[in-house]
Amino acid sequence: MVQLDKKDWRLKQKERLKSYQGTHRRQEEAVLRQQLLQMVSWKTAQRVALTLSLPFELDTQPLINAAWQAGKQVVVPQIKHQTMVFVEITPQTSYQAGPMGILEPCDATIVQSETIDLVVTPGLAFTKTGKRLGFGAGYYDRFLVNYAGPTVALALSCQIVLDLPQDKYDQRIMTILFDDHC
Ligand SMILES: Nc1ncnc2c1ncn2[C@@H]1O[C@H](COP(=O)(O)OP(=O)(O)O)[C@@H](O)[C@H]1O
Ligand SMILES: [Mg+2]
Repeated sequence: MVQLDKKDWRLKQKERLKSYQGTHRRQEEAVLRQQLLQMVSWKTAQRVALTLSLPFELDTQPLINAAWQAGKQVVVPQIKHQTMVFVEITPQTSYQAGPMGILEPCDATIVQSETIDLVVTPGLAFTKTGKRLGFGAGYYDRFLVNYAGPTVALALSCQIVLDLPQDKYDQRIMTILFDDHC
């Protein structure tokens, strides 16, 4: 069998995510978000790292709102000098388009990574055992290698795969949430 490399996987997974739409997807997203909200590491976290999702990704806005409603601080990634840092966002934050069209907060304060209690990791594909395929820049691999706290990813059914190519620098995600009924 011909092995797909990471580049092929990324193209394939972006297409799968873009073509997975409709009621079923919305329901699955809601199930996954609910699973996260029930995790002890979410409930106890004072400061959570989330992402501002792209249109084809699982919508993280309800999670950001839920965190604020629960009195948590929310931080999101920002690329500074080729390194990923996390900055705090609030309901008052205004945004500008950053590299790759991803929204970035204006005038945001950088937080120290040790003060983040939970990192919700984005990605294109995952195995149930925590292997992750990101967008190809390796930012989370470089960040997580120095991060000791819990990590979690919300994986839609089309993002769960049996195996993925991994390099020595790829970091495992501690918990992959997936919907058993899909
Ligand atoms: N710990 C690290 N130190 C230096 N470079 C790294 C590290 N982790 C990842 N990288 C770089 O990031 C690049 C992208 O990593 P890759 O795993 O392909 O992307 P992604 O994790 O986004 O899917 C790799 O080419 C690698 O050189
Ligand atoms: Mg990687």
